[in-house]
Amino acid sequence: MFKNKLAPSILNADFSCLKEVLLLLERCKVDLVHLDVMDGNFVPNITFGPKIVNTIRKNISLPLSVHLMIEKPERYIEVFSKALFTRDSIIVHVETCPHLDKTLQMIIDSGLKTGVALNPATPLEMIKHVLDKLNVILIMTVNPGFGGQQFITTMIKKITQAREIVNKFGKNIDIQVDGGVNIKNIETVNKAGANILVVGSEIFEAENPENMIRDIQKKLQIL
Ligand code: DX5
Ligand code: ZN
Repeated sequence: MFKNKLAPSILNADFSCLKEVLLLLERCKVDLVHLDVMDGNFVPNITFGPKIVNTIRKNISLPLSVHLMIEKPERYIEVFSKALFTRDSIIVHVETCPHLDKTLQMIIDSGLKTGVALNPATPLEMIKHVLDKLNVILIMTVNPGFGGQQFITTMIKKITQAREIVNKFGKNIDIQVDGGVNIKNIETVNKAGANILVVGSEIFEAENPENMIRDIQKKLQIL
């Protein structure tokens, strides 16, 4: 049985008070903090790099999940691993990794957990050869780059297929879903097979982010 986990993405949080954002997540004891690293190349947006990731690492005790939306991520595994702790994870996009198993091995060798993300158009077949190296499969349910986009509903089938593949393989791999997840669709996404739910703007654009986190946590507990 996979534990349901909430992973808030701080992409759309107010970075002028980052410390308060981190204190809020700590206070709410969320399961993971999802950090979106974008290079303006693989995706149209640019966010932050290892320095900010390390600042966040030093200011929060929760596990971090670093979602690398960058070209040639293998160039940055070492520097990000130095910015992180061992129970953290690095997620690379399959579309950016011509030598995926090699890149995953770099993450494993640096002592971190591994993850692979797939864009909505990328088939699950692309990762079947690396299941033994994975802790997390991240199914993108929007085209990556921005928070606040609408969930692509045809991805529900892909989430279910990913869960079936994992169950058949018999390994403990989490299915994480990222993009357009909100309090209304979270049950459907969970029931489809996702156990780690990334939620960004639904939390940080809510009138009261703390209440929203607690409402989502309550919902996830009873699912
Ligand atoms: C989008 C990012 C997401 C984003 C999710 O490319 O990978 O993590 O922050 O934000 P929402 O929940 O607003 O779709
Ligand atoms: Zn993300």
